[in-house]
Amino acid sequence: MIYHDSQHRLWVLSGPSSSYVLHLDEADRPRVMHWGPRLTPEQAASLLLRLPRPGFRPVEDPMEGSFDLIATGGLCYGQAGLQVRFADGTRDLELVFTGQRRTDRELVLAYADRHYPLTVECHYRLYGDVIERHLVLRNEGEPVTVVRADSATWVLPRMNGYRLGSVRGQWGAETRLHRTELPYGETVLTSRRGVTSHQANPWAMVDDGTAGEEHGAVYSCALAWSGSWRLTAQRLPTERVTLSTGAGHDPVTWELGTGEEHVTPVCAGLFTEGGFGAASRAWHDHQLRHVLPHAGEVRPVLYNSWEATGFDVSMDGQIRLAESAARMGVELFVVDDGWFGARTHDAAGLGDWYPNPHRFPDGLGPLIDRVHELGMRFGLWVEPEMVNPDSDLYRAHPDWVIHRPHRRRTEHRNQLVLDLSRPEVGDWLFRTLDELLAKNAIDFLKWDMNRPFTEAGPDERLWLGHVRTLYDVLDRLRAAHPHVRIESCSSGGGRVDLGILRRTDQVWTSDNTDALDRLDIQHGFSQLYPARVMGAWVTDSPNPYTGREIPLDFRFHVAMAGVLAIGGALTEWSRADLDRAAELVADYKRIRPLVQHGRQYRLLPPGGELSAVQYLAADGGEAAVLVHRRGRRFGHPDPGIPMRALDPDGRYRDTATGEVHHGAVLLTHGLFPDLAPGDYASALLHLVRE
Ligand code: DGJ
Repeated sequence: MIYHDSQHRLWVLSGPSSSYVLHLDEADRPRVMHWGPRLTPEQAASLLLRLPRPGFRPVEDPMEGSFDLIATGGLCYGQAGLQVRFADGTRDLELVFTGQRRTDRELVLAYADRHYPLTVECHYRLYGDVIERHLVLRNEGEPVTVVRADSATWVLPRMNGYRLGSVRGQWGAETRLHRTELPYGETVLTSRRGVTSHQANPWAMVDDGTAGEEHGAVYSCALAWSGSWRLTAQRLPTERVTLSTGAGHDPVTWELGTGEEHVTPVCAGLFTEGGFGAASRAWHDHQLRHVLPHAGEVRPVLYNSWEATGFDVSMDGQIRLAESAARMGVELFVVDDGWFGARTHDAAGLGDWYPNPHRFPDGLGPLIDRVHELGMRFGLWVEPEMVNPDSDLYRAHPDWVIHRPHRRRTEHRNQLVLDLSRPEVGDWLFRTLDELLAKNAIDFLKWDMNRPFTEAGPDERLWLGHVRTLYDVLDRLRAAHPHVRIESCSSGGGRVDLGILRRTDQVWTSDNTDALDRLDIQHGFSQLYPARVMGAWVTDSPNPYTGREIPLDFRFHVAMAGVLAIGGALTEWSRADLDRAAELVADYKRIRPLVQHGRQYRLLPPGGELSAVQYLAADGGEAAVLVHRRGRRFGHPDPGIPMRALDPDGRYRDTATGEVHHGAVLLTHGLFPDLAPGDYASALLHLVRE
């Protein structure tokens, strides 16, 4: 609901439990009067009485850091989310308010520069308590250089302290949660890689330092963009804190020509009470309701051949794996890298998207038919934004890659990035994939992106243009082939964000499939993103990446926390393991609706002896709990694991043992899973309300 009080130049944007209150001051600056628990319009208007009296002018501007749109100019010395350079070199923006447009859920506040013909619109859209915000810049004058156009600058209220939560990582170790006191000054989270990145992810959560998993107020924001980005958390000495976020990184600028418009990606902001758990659940819910294209679908159990075969792909080998996977209960069989062009190793073939004629002399048809006959859907790996110099595509179009004159073309994994901002490259990309999908009965694409940009130059054309074309191609392919589902992958979890999730159905979380490491990676992933998109494979033991040996049940119970998949060399597995795996796949299918569409409660974080995560059906009638014990210390007995959000008066039956537990007891004393005595013990408990 959006309410406007014209007399006080006040807007109140309210979701079910929060409000965001804006007031336009005498200088037309939109001041954030409140972001927090829900207020009535009358309560919001009363906040104006608390503003400093006119004429009160201390040395420091008491308002600095409290505006929802901060442009360079005047006495603004802090972080400015909007920075431009006019053709004559002027950098100051002097914005005047020119009007508003408003519906129940959308608000547009329009501004224009006092002199130069540049307009700026701030767009807000409410989805429950989530506020999506973006900017639209229009230039009717001489070309303007846009130095920075953040989608949103979120202003936090004064609190007793500020703690910044975010994830950091690297290849094979993505989304590791980190919380630290927000230092004074500017803390920058960023990707300069042209892709979302493994190193940081474009979201942040701030609390006052006292919030826990189930209590406390949390302010969070997330950017819907899959290219370079920057999030600046600013803490002024006056204890004003802002989170300003947008596409692009320093020093990338772009030119807005005469008559041109620039629409920024969306940044979503959310205030929640109830701790980090409630914040995560609200983000999950938002993505399931408003972001994911087919959120209501249940994601199938997937098999992926990469760890089993590497580049050694053959028709017979894939069929043997497919037969084994089908027996295990797999529903979607995905052939990974190595099926196309001269791609028998990682130095050739990228760009040549036709089946390797030696490996698939009759094309992919016979393999696809066999997979379908086995009752599974068929998926195929592609990495369409890339090219190996040793490929027909590169030999024909060496100028299609991102490059600069007088600079070397840095190769990474023997490959270069296609410059999708060139219209002919975007057209080729769509045509090639459209044809691949039209000629073959493909149900699923794993869309990979294995290297960041280099030698890219500073202008928008490329940094923003690449991502825009990527989005456009994905949108057109989905429209042309509505049955096809897509997985976003970038050397594991290098491209996970609300922008790509609007166009894809799941993501590959990490190339690290070691179940112990995965507990941490998945814990960080779950802070913002739902289990419904988190691809998780069970692979071989010892793990090919870490060498760690972990029992099959534990590996399964970790992967069941997301979209379960198998990625092992099944032809090497023992009969006993194959049989047990089939039972575990069946167990997963029973609890899958809870995992993929229920509410998630992180009962015990990884790191200690025990970790546990609970999924609860929307109606509270069923719950699943995955428990993992990494190692028992000192022979201590396992403690009870208190569950969350059950009905204390309810009775819950364990579907495996038939035992009935009282809700009140599960909430206080907790579950006592019957774990095996040694290390790497795990359990899945499924409780149904009687
Ligand atoms: C990186 C991905 O993350 C892997 O899963 C696999 O698809 C390889 N690329 C293939 O080259």
